[in-house]
Amino acid sequence: MDKINIIGMGPGSSKYVLPVSREIIEAADMLIGSKRYIDDYCSDGQKSIVLDSNYPQVVEYLKGNMGSERIAILVSGDSSFYSLTTYIKKNIDVGNLNIVPGISSLQYLFSRIGISYERTLLTSLHGREEDFWERSLEFDNIGILTDKKWSPERIAKEIIRRKLDFKYIYVGENLTYENEKVSRMTMEECLDFETDNINAVVISND
Ligand SMILES: C[S@@+](CC[C@H](N)C(=O)[O-])C[C@H]1O[C@@H](n2cnc3c(N)ncnc32)[C@H](O)[C@@H]1O
Repeated sequence: MDKINIIGMGPGSSKYVLPVSREIIEAADMLIGSKRYIDDYCSDGQKSIVLDSNYPQVVEYLKGNMGSERIAILVSGDSSFYSLTTYIKKNIDVGNLNIVPGISSLQYLFSRIGISYERTLLTSLHGREEDFWERSLEFDNIGILTDKKWSPERIAKEIIRRKLDFKYIYVGENLTYENEKVSRMTMEECLDFETDNINAVVISND
């Protein structure tokens, strides 16, 4: 029986999609993903569902069609790092899933700035509140997924307010795209940083 494929599509550019993922996507009967993935990857003869806030309907579809259709769900970055996979696993037995990894935006950013991420707290403030601040002092770096509410500037302000012993903040915007920009700032410099671009940050003393 074909399992439901959940594919990590990397940070953005198609150059960072794994060959095995391309094979699964090309062979699929049904693609499920955000509009940009459906526009870019759905070919003639393939069905598609655009993901927005329709998660319950998507789960119903998966329950009704798994086994009889080859289904590929396309998610950004790594499929096992703050992605739709968690929601799907709450509703579909993991034994029915084939989860294919992708390059996470944070993994990519660590490579771009030349810092290894062994002793790193990896977390997310994307659409959520996490109280990891004091605990972060046990680590050399923090990698954080951001959103409009938790911008790099607000994160820098929080680190200064809490007097946490980290010097630099790296901001990776539009990672892997042609307009990618990576900046290294002190916390104080970051207080004036403004952006509307999708971004992730690394906090470090390096
Ligand atoms: C829902 S989370 C998904 C994370 C994803 N699973 C991963 O491994 O990167 C979305 C967040 O990932 C980060 N992100 C995703 N793509 C990005 C990109 N191309 N450039 C910068 N940050 C990105 C941003 O912080 C964004 O708010």
